[in-house]
Amino acid sequence: MKILVLHGVNLNLLGQREESIYGRATLDDINSELRALAGQLGVELECRQSNHEGQLVDWLQQAPASYAAVVFNPGAYTHYSIALRDAIAAISIPVVEVHLSNIYAREEFRHTSVLAPVAAGQISGLGALSYRLGLLAAVELGRGRGKDGEEKCIKAD
Ligand code: DQA
Repeated sequence: MKILVLHGVNLNLLGQREESIYGRATLDDINSELRALAGQLGVELECRQSNHEGQLVDWLQQAPASYAAVVFNPGAYTHYSIALRDAIAAISIPVVEVHLSNIYAREEFRHTSVLAPVAAGQISGLGALSYRLGLLAAVELGRGRGKDGEEKCIKAD
């Protein structure tokens, strides 16, 4: 199984950008951690970053042909990109939205994610751990477990 990790706008600057909010880890550090975890989980990983909305839309549209699920940190596009929302809604595979910072504890304009309603779920505020948990969720969902399985358990109880 293959999982796609997409990092959006400005995330190439991690490690040198607003360290008090985003921490010291670089994008390479985060991708290395994710590759190690993917190895333990027995899945293949592809990590990409773009500052361009249209590029991210293209990658999302193409993802179902090769990947079982997507882990996506859209950066600031989270808060206003209807194009990315429509791309996520258009594809059949689960997209897990992740954020390093807690977007709900920051400026008010960050409290809204226009993507969250069409994402499989959202993990926010745990630093690099948000990505690792996002990968775990993507693998479970990509294997057809997770959400539906949990609902069945809840109903069975
Ligand atoms: C972010 C949160 C966004 O509000 C911000 O624009 C980013 C990074 C995060 O990972 O915490 O660029 O997505």
